[in-house]
Amino acid sequence: MSGGPQADSQKPGRWQPAITTDPLLRKHGALGQPVSRVDGPLKVQGKARFAAEFSYENITYAALSFSRIARGRITELNVAAAEAAPGVILVMTYHNAPRMKAPSLMMSSPTAAGASDLPVMQNDEIHWNGQPIALVLAETQEQADYAASLVEATYASLPAVASFDEAKQAPRQLETLLGQPPVLEIGDAEAALAGAEVKVDVVYRTPRHNHNAIELHAATVTWTGDALHVHDASQLLDLTAGQLGDIFGLEPGKVRVTSPYVGGGFGGKCLWDHQILAIAASKLAGRPVRMMLSREGVFRIVGGRTVTEQRVALGARTDGTLDALIHTGTAAMTLHNSCPEQFTFPARHLYAARTFRLAQDVADMDMLANTFMRAPGESVGTFALESALDELADKLGMDPIELRRRIEPDKDPTTGKPFSSRYLVEAYQTGAERFGWQNRSQIPRQRRDGEWLIGMGCATATYPYHRFPGGAARITLTADGRVTVSTAVHDMGMGTATAQAQHIAARLGLPIDHVTFEYGDSSLPRGVIAGGSTQTASIGGAVIAATEVFTEDLIKLAGNDSPLAGLSLADVEIRDGGLGHRDDHDRFESYQSILRRAGSVELVCEAEAPAPAEMEAFSMHSYGAQFCEVRVSALTGEVRVSRFLGSFDAGQIINAKMATSQFKGGIVMGIGLALTEETNFDERTGRIVNASLAEYHVPVQMDVPKIEILYTNTPDPQAPMGARGIGEIGITGVGAAVANAIYNATGIRVRDLPITLDKVMAAPR
Ligand code: MOS
Repeated sequence: MSGGPQADSQKPGRWQPAITTDPLLRKHGALGQPVSRVDGPLKVQGKARFAAEFSYENITYAALSFSRIARGRITELNVAAAEAAPGVILVMTYHNAPRMKAPSLMMSSPTAAGASDLPVMQNDEIHWNGQPIALVLAETQEQADYAASLVEATYASLPAVASFDEAKQAPRQLETLLGQPPVLEIGDAEAALAGAEVKVDVVYRTPRHNHNAIELHAATVTWTGDALHVHDASQLLDLTAGQLGDIFGLEPGKVRVTSPYVGGGFGGKCLWDHQILAIAASKLAGRPVRMMLSREGVFRIVGGRTVTEQRVALGARTDGTLDALIHTGTAAMTLHNSCPEQFTFPARHLYAARTFRLAQDVADMDMLANTFMRAPGESVGTFALESALDELADKLGMDPIELRRRIEPDKDPTTGKPFSSRYLVEAYQTGAERFGWQNRSQIPRQRRDGEWLIGMGCATATYPYHRFPGGAARITLTADGRVTVSTAVHDMGMGTATAQAQHIAARLGLPIDHVTFEYGDSSLPRGVIAGGSTQTASIGGAVIAATEVFTEDLIKLAGNDSPLAGLSLADVEIRDGGLGHRDDHDRFESYQSILRRAGSVELVCEAEAPAPAEMEAFSMHSYGAQFCEVRVSALTGEVRVSRFLGSFDAGQIINAKMATSQFKGGIVMGIGLALTEETNFDERTGRIVNASLAEYHVPVQMDVPKIEILYTNTPDPQAPMGARGIGEIGITGVGAAVANAIYNATGIRVRDLPITLDKVMAAPR
């Protein structure tokens, strides 16, 4: 199985594909089965221990106090009452905290992690409202929490920029937008827009969002001499270990970070101040420390998605083709931050246009550094772009799916590279049939059921394929014919361990119960981060490389008394728990037999994934078509999402059950983005005022209808295992699909997320 419509357009000789034809993909049905979670039984029995669940003799509990100004200096810090409170062991402030090196910005150093490079508790400076000013260590969590409430600070405030409107008056140009040029121009788009027959030129706004994984951020830390062990809730083990080594001046190998179970990450479970401070406090106290942030604490010190203001201008001909595609705007950021919310990324690859202008800058504010949050850039970028396309379709009197079909490009519209595999049109077609799109009225406000206006909307989902280099995998074969594959990667609940166990079983020709996938520990062979929907493909690349070494080692070990005698790597294939001649079925020897004859108890081999050359040669993206039906109360403006369907093209699906959950989870988060989620940021003080799940509204059961998931399951010939990664694409396009459905139901266009009932009622129509 291989190939897409673009397969023929590959130009051999111009590129060096890393992993083109994966032999596994020839074995029909080897991947994709709906295997249940391998860690499911442990989790339902409460035996899976999360970061805050490790107990040590002599353990202590930490709590934080947070600053109440956005910028300035601490002039007085009164910790006497806290120190005198019951059970308190110590209070750590900038006065007594150990000296630590500042963390480096993500991507500013090869071993960096974290979303801010500000030093922690090293001086009296305050850089955001909510910055930790004191850590209390006590014998119980309750004692620590109480004592932390007694810390009193006075400040000398400095003028702070806490208003986005003010900040964007002086935008800062970026040098790079995650490795891409921040400004991309093809032709004169403004002139083409001015002369276009049909135009849309509008501004969309998206608010701040905070990370609210159900597992609170936590770390349990212990020192043994100068060796540090952190039980973390992490999606970047190796980067965290490297950073902690730098911050505390530890030799490589002296830091071990483990994180086998994580209760949700979405970009937020990285290195933040709480781990660093817990380690520092443990050093001061000479005792193990458990630090679990309160829900408020997560809002204060863990960054989220930032505010954006985006202009989308489309100039079209009456046939729908685009003369101009303009997507520009500004995101709020801080100077000590590297997450610019790359909302112009979708427009770089989705549609054909005769001219482009794609440009974004940032507006610096005195606030907590923002960070990656599920499909950073794409989720809010598709809200703007896909809403604008819907507005254009409306002006053209054209079905919005037909409009997208007319601007479907035959190669990447801005890079000119061939697509590795792209079935967006097909995803729309199958999704539309299944959803009953033909029942939608092109004219809005045509369907009504009592007070409820009913409408349908669609939007494109998209997320880039990336594969990180540097990940390694170790295969250990034991005499019982079982295999353990080890790499320092992560399962935040998305099913990594299950999908990889399935992948390894298929690749090594073993039943899945003969396979152990070992992960979640920085002492294992170097792993990649769980981020950017890259982990599955990145692990795949490492496992494929290790399998090649494994096969070669087995051939050598088999020697001359084997049915495999004289065969080379090219002659053999893995099947049925052993190696066999590709064409001669009778020439076969099992792993167990090879080990037994060689007198070996185990075979261990390790390899690193090859560089991701496929990303250089091809435009590689996943796609989807999101379909939404809403019911909007004509009396109150209340919006209920009544049906949702996502039709995805993400390459080979490794596990049907896990993938469907992952897509659905993204859509649920997207419904929150569309309708309820918003961090209320007090622009006078820079303080987040809704720092709790009672006031920050994530979707709950009643907000989420039945969601149907379809996927093409067509392997990408350029991706390891044919799989492009599915962590983030689910949320993309959802905001626009909901907004477009609301417009279809009511004739009301809301360009400002979240679409709350007051905005629906206030809108002119
Ligand atoms: Mo994702 S925002 O890269 O965890």
